[in-house]
Amino acid sequence: MRRVLLDAGPIVHFAGSNGLDGTDMCDVDQQVMPAGSAIIIEDGVITSLRESAEAEAEFQSTYEDTEVYSLQGSAVIPGLVDAHTHLLWAGDRSQEIRWKQAGVSYADIAERGGGIGHTVRATRAASSEELAVDGIARMESALANGTTHLEAKSGYGLDTETECRLIAIMDNLAHHHNLPSLDITWLGAHDIAPGLNRSEYVEQILSEQLPAVLEQGLARSADVFCEPGWFSCEESEDILRAARAGGLDLRMHIDEFKDGGGGQLAAELKVQSADHAHYTSSQSRADMHAAKVNTGFLPGTPYSQGEKNWPPFQSYIDESWRWSFASDFNPNCQTLSLPFLASVLVQRAGIDPLATLAAATCNPAQTSPHPSGKPHGVIEKGAVANLNILDGENWESWCLRPGHSPFAATVLEGIMISHNS
Ligand code: NIG
Ligand code: FE
Repeated sequence: MRRVLLDAGPIVHFAGSNGLDGTDMCDVDQQVMPAGSAIIIEDGVITSLRESAEAEAEFQSTYEDTEVYSLQGSAVIPGLVDAHTHLLWAGDRSQEIRWKQAGVSYADIAERGGGIGHTVRATRAASSEELAVDGIARMESALANGTTHLEAKSGYGLDTETECRLIAIMDNLAHHHNLPSLDITWLGAHDIAPGLNRSEYVEQILSEQLPAVLEQGLARSADVFCEPGWFSCEESEDILRAARAGGLDLRMHIDEFKDGGGGQLAAELKVQSADHAHYTSSQSRADMHAAKVNTGFLPGTPYSQGEKNWPPFQSYIDESWRWSFASDFNPNCQTLSLPFLASVLVQRAGIDPLATLAAATCNPAQTSPHPSGKPHGVIEKGAVANLNILDGENWESWCLRPGHSPFAATVLEGIMISHNS
């Protein structure tokens, strides 16, 4: 099946980049193709980008199995890559907002029976069908906001049976048609399991849970919540090294509330992505970059927590350190809209809109591969045909509609999904 998209407006392509750093992220001349091109897609893959009039002359005629669309000058950007989500969980913690506003900390909310522990109880009690139905609705919401690929973590089971169940449900969702692709991460070390002490739970993870996850063979990566009060650097290192020995790639949650040394460990272990990194020292940030560790900022978390400061996005551009951002969708931070979070970066934190787009497409794609093994988060020959069509001629509008999807349509692995109906 061939699809030909004629009359494209400006196309933000990030072609040939393997991700971008520093001022390259803001370089419109290099990253944006002027209006007037066509995108040719065959079997879900971009096969060429060429002059629109030329493509029109060739494909307007009698080719079978070809659909021709005119984009009427609308701007096009790559499909968005959300490389940090907690996709599956049950329950509701909305009542925590008044505690947060009264100044009760995240740790103290957990002490009061809220936080991750609350969600673990609700998730264990939910049926697989209920979790799958919520998962599909969330993936649809992500797609309506232009996300074509999600990294999705377990982590609200905290026992072997439920962690494997969550991973199996995600694997099922990964095989649904017309939903974003999924990259599955095991996050058994998200909190200490109820009823066990810290060393008992770490022991259970190492001797029982991780082996079961490896045996199941569905998770691609492992993650740990490495943070003072949750998993120490030593515990995190033991779990991550064991996971790597079992063949998993590594990711980390680090320094969300304070600098606990997670950045140093991330650099030492050369993990794919170290996320949150709100309170990481500059030295650790530089060490992470030198070790080719991506910093994954999660602006929805400070937004939800009522934090006054944003993480230092701009210094990453100034220092040419590699970074991305993601939704961190979870019960405490319930958005799957990267365009909304991009508005926070651009309209609140003053970050360049093109750099912000690179941080939601070609950069996270480097840490969360597409299941096909083909490039994604870019618009170039040979890449997965994942792209978003804006509803106007300015690509900048992708991050200027908080509360609304800026997209008229998303092309998902070559299939045109309209958001107007
Ligand atoms: O990345 N901080 C650790 N994990 C999640 C939040 C989990 C929760 O509050 O349920 C995060 O923000
Ligand atoms: Fe998270």
